[in-house]
Amino acid sequence: MSAAMIVAIDGPAGAGKSSVARALADRLGFHYLDTGAMYRALTWLALRDGVALDDGPGLAALARQRPVEFGDQDAVSIAGVDVTRAIRAPEIDAAVPVVARHAEVRDVMRERQRLLGHAGDSVIEGRDIGVVVVPDAEVKVWLVADPAVRVRRRHAERAGIDEEALAEDLLRRDERDAANTHRADDAIEVDTTDLTLDEVVDRIAGLVGVRR
Ligand code: DC
Repeated sequence: MSAAMIVAIDGPAGAGKSSVARALADRLGFHYLDTGAMYRALTWLALRDGVALDDGPGLAALARQRPVEFGDQDAVSIAGVDVTRAIRAPEIDAAVPVVARHAEVRDVMRERQRLLGHAGDSVIEGRDIGVVVVPDAEVKVWLVADPAVRVRRRHAERAGIDEEALAEDLLRRDERDAANTHRADDAIEVDTTDLTLDEVVDRIAGLVGVRR
């Protein structure tokens, strides 16, 4: 049997990574791995258990003790609690870049991401997948979109939050995530600004077809 095929989807917040990666995985019959959800779940647990967000070794130990689990329909749980919805709250948005910054935390997460990703053909979504987590992924995509479109997409996902606040938040997140967001030299850039979800998925599925 040949090794698992990996499609890496990286890019900034709001470029469309989650929708694209999920739809692509459905189309191809691949597993879908949302690595951002792993950092979010750890952040949720750290806040619940009072682990300081500046304690890299403490957070890494927590990540090792309590690995994030994925269930049906992209359900996310940690420490036996279903956190699928809770990890999308604004408090988590604000705190997660602080947690994701620690090298010790990233080492634990990456190890688990490789394990989950190689369990079968997978679409893996994140910031550092094509460069650090799976540098030998068969297909690497760098998703981008115009800032105004990125804000509008996040607004659609987060009802009730004002657009101006979201625009500011996105800018701040871009700055905070920059150190962990890497574009692979061999990634193919797809600008989703003027494309429908189907068009983006068609394009990437075409790239996967060529490599198979
Ligand atoms: O994509 P997202 O918004 O769910 O990501 C949540 C946070 O985790 C965000 O601060 C970026 C960070 N992240 C990361 O550093 N590396 C990844 N592979 C995925 C996400």
